[in-house]
Amino acid sequence: MKNFFHKPIKYTYLYIDAWFNFAFGTKNNPLYHLGSLAFFMLWIVLISGLYIFIIFDTSITGAFQSVEYMTNEQWYLGGVMRSLHRYASDATLVVVLLHIIREFSLDRYRGFRWFSWFTGTPNLWLIVLLGISGYWLVWDQLAQYVAIGSSQLLDALPIFSGAMSRNFLVGNLSDRFFTLMAFVHLLGLPVMLVFGLWIHVKRLTKVEVFVPKTLAIGSFLALLILSLVKPAISHAQADLTIIPTLLNLDWYYLNVYPLLDYFTAGETWILTIGISTLLMLMPWLPIKRTPPAVVVDLNNCNGCSQCFDDCPFDAISMQARTDGARWKMEPVVDPNLCAACGICVGSCPYSNPSRRSEVKLATGIDLPEQPIHQIRTATKTALTELSSSKVKILIFGCSHGVNLTEINAPDVAIITLPCTGMLPPAFIDYTLQRGADGVLISGCRSQDCYYRFGNHWLEQRIKGDRTPILAKRVNREKFDFVGYAETDEAQLLQNIATIRQRITEGQG
Ligand code: HEM
Repeated sequence: MKNFFHKPIKYTYLYIDAWFNFAFGTKNNPLYHLGSLAFFMLWIVLISGLYIFIIFDTSITGAFQSVEYMTNEQWYLGGVMRSLHRYASDATLVVVLLHIIREFSLDRYRGFRWFSWFTGTPNLWLIVLLGISGYWLVWDQLAQYVAIGSSQLLDALPIFSGAMSRNFLVGNLSDRFFTLMAFVHLLGLPVMLVFGLWIHVKRLTKVEVFVPKTLAIGSFLALLILSLVKPAISHAQADLTIIPTLLNLDWYYLNVYPLLDYFTAGETWILTIGISTLLMLMPWLPIKRTPPAVVVDLNNCNGCSQCFDDCPFDAISMQARTDGARWKMEPVVDPNLCAACGICVGSCPYSNPSRRSEVKLATGIDLPEQPIHQIRTATKTALTELSSSKVKILIFGCSHGVNLTEINAPDVAIITLPCTGMLPPAFIDYTLQRGADGVLISGCRSQDCYYRFGNHWLEQRIKGDRTPILAKRVNREKFDFVGYAETDEAQLLQNIATIRQRITEGQG
């Protein structure tokens, strides 16, 4: 059932990702930066909004005129700022919707990720409310439509019971009410959104709050060009004596209002609250099991804090040493936050498979369900199985990239890990020294690691930019580190064929 929904959307994303990677490069692929792109759009909304606020008149009589002034008289600055404000708001919503669909389709919303999903949803509604209250402030006929629709909806709630609609009887609308709306739009909702977003990313480390520079410049220019080519304009001034008929609705923000033509306000609330509740409960429909959290072994820990630095989910903290050892600090794992990705196992200097004294390889931090000694044993077994083959290729693959079980070649052995970030670089050296002709590490696509940083950290360790580093003596020609998604099987097979050919030519 899950696959019925996930798979088609996931494959659509993966194919579009591949095109975008080709067009923009992996670093600037907007689909890899949807969260930070939403932040970027909000920055544009904020800065353009501050400018609009300088000119805006918060009285009922002045609001419309002040917006008209900036749109027509000061079109080159005020008008552009207004358009940027409108289009960046629309873009925020589009990007957030793509962000939600992406996290859903790539199954990045359940298990240990429930918190990010659950706390993301209120932000969606805060953004929608910001948009609605913004349209209201223009006080044109669209604003009138929004205001009357909103009062209908609010009046259906027991706390208002009819009080809202009275504001919109001719002569009843006061400046005070209008100032209140301005306060909600300019201060109340933005403050709540900042707080909501802080909570939303609280369980993540090194959150990507800023988009890459080229992507920022490109998206800003796109909005600027749109603002110049198709400036945002108002409808006619609001007039409570008439009912506006022909309106240009913003379907991103105002889609709830046409529902009032078909449903009562009460039914519209039930529908909206129902959809929101369903969205929030998604991580439990069905529940996804997270394997047991990593366990620290202080006998093999020197408190170097690399595991703490590498953990993408803030599950490790460094605290004062408790075992009387000469080291000052020790890592402490919060099992509720641990994703069991094993990235910290790959960070630990004790995870070196060449430690000769160890009958059973013990390390400072380890996964109970797939400990590092098991990976070393699997490596030894794989090499023994390949020993009679002319060509011996060993693949260390992550379980979230391309499906490795499909590869059926007698000269290839496969070891699957939760994440390639779990692989200590010393394993490459170990495997080559013990007879492998070639090693292939196959992770998720670059910039799109299921566990956020696994492939990035391994790449840095291989380059020597992050500990534990890959020894300089290791022949770089003998291993490849690639990033593939589920749809990239053909590329992987091609890769293996190239490695095989390289080895055969080297042998001949
Ligand atoms: C304005 C609204 C939002 C913004 C600005 C935003 C931004 C972000 C950012 C920056 C991240 C971290 C990305 C990273 O560094 O890896 C993130 C993660 C996430 N967001 Fe949002 N988000 C928003 C709304 C939502 C909503 C409405 C949902 C779902 C209902 C959602 C679901 C998630 C999930 C599941 C993650 C976790 C990803 C992971 O663990 O790798 N977000 N968001």
